[in-house]
Amino acid sequence: MSLALATAGESHGPALVAIVTGLPAGLLLDRDAIDRDLRRRQEGYGRSPRQQIETDEVEVLAGVRHGRTLGTPVALVVRNRDHANWSWGMSPWPPEGEARGKGARPVTLPRPGHADLAGTLKYGLADVRDALERASARQTAAHVAAGAVTKALLREIGVEVEGTVAELGGASGDAVRDAIDAARSDRDTLGGVVEVRARGVPPGLGSYATKDDRLDARLGAALLGIQAVKAVEIGDGFTLARMRGSEAHDEILRDPERGVFRETNRAGGLEGGISNGEDVVVRAAMKPLPTLMRPLRSVDLETGEPADALVERSDVAAVEALAVVAEAAVAWELARAAREKFGGDALGDFVAAHAAYVERVDWQPRTP
Ligand SMILES: Cc1cc2nc3c(=O)[nH]c(=O)nc-3n(C[C@H](O)[C@H](O)[C@H](O)COP(=O)(O)O)c2cc1C
Repeated sequence: MSLALATAGESHGPALVAIVTGLPAGLLLDRDAIDRDLRRRQEGYGRSPRQQIETDEVEVLAGVRHGRTLGTPVALVVRNRDHANWSWGMSPWPPEGEARGKGARPVTLPRPGHADLAGTLKYGLADVRDALERASARQTAAHVAAGAVTKALLREIGVEVEGTVAELGGASGDAVRDAIDAARSDRDTLGGVVEVRARGVPPGLGSYATKDDRLDARLGAALLGIQAVKAVEIGDGFTLARMRGSEAHDEILRDPERGVFRETNRAGGLEGGISNGEDVVVRAAMKPLPTLMRPLRSVDLETGEPADALVERSDVAAVEALAVVAEAAVAWELARAAREKFGGDALGDFVAAHAAYVERVDWQPRTP
């Protein structure tokens, strides 16, 4: 039994869609909790005015009855309210009447750092918009909705996942706002680093059996699959490369009450591609956003002449949003590994398999 996710949707199209398969029957979903995560994704200092147009809410079209999953595919929809301004430009069918609203004129000025040029060349497109609409991170709303569902599943086995901003534009703490203000007044953008921590993860999720089974590789792929993420660190990651083995590894201790445990967690809760019972800790680095109000040099694809890149309404920084998206991605991957390990068609089967396993192994979840 494994979870699978298919998503569809363009940034300014009618809606974003997520279809989740592999959930057990009987999982209680809280619409407010899903909407709360969708709203968290939209918040953050440095986001663009688009976030005031969109008030994301989840709609469920299938797989849930009276708030509980049926064990059948769950279809989630997040509507793009901004589509009203793009109804001609992003009409799925040939639009009728005079060209009007946004997206009516073709985009021919690819932005360095975005998918514009590579996507246009790859798919043989005349309008860069045909590439950028799906490449945009707007679709992360569908992933956050699916992630919120898996957070509910993980909570049933005592696993909590939380994403936070570690640094933004090289600043941390109170200095972050100043960094964003400075970048905004320079009409520039910033990236940053987020950290996701999962507590209560039992030892034994993932496997060293094959590369595809390794939980560290799966978490890496899940995070690198998010737009603008350029590096992922598991535990102390790059710092470990500069340490000696005697200082880098987490010694194994045992307490009759707690079973085996570690006093340090430089491995980020993962050894041999398997969760080891400590918190799973991963970090993701985001490059600065590529849509610049003071554009970089580009080429007009229609004329072949030098030109400035496209300027379109955009965020100064979206690192706080990334923390929410990364949290959803990690929750999704941990839930997928947990479904593989504990199986079960009914939620009770899944929870009972987890309880029997925890009973068998010499490990107790950490109390925070
Ligand atoms: C939550 C989130 C919000 C983003 N918002 C913007 C934005 O407003 N403007 C922009 O140019 N890029 C934005 N990006 C980044 C682009 O989607 C990303 O740079 C683009 O997909 C190319 O990156 P890639 O090479 O990793 O695919 C955002 C990314 C995330 C994760």
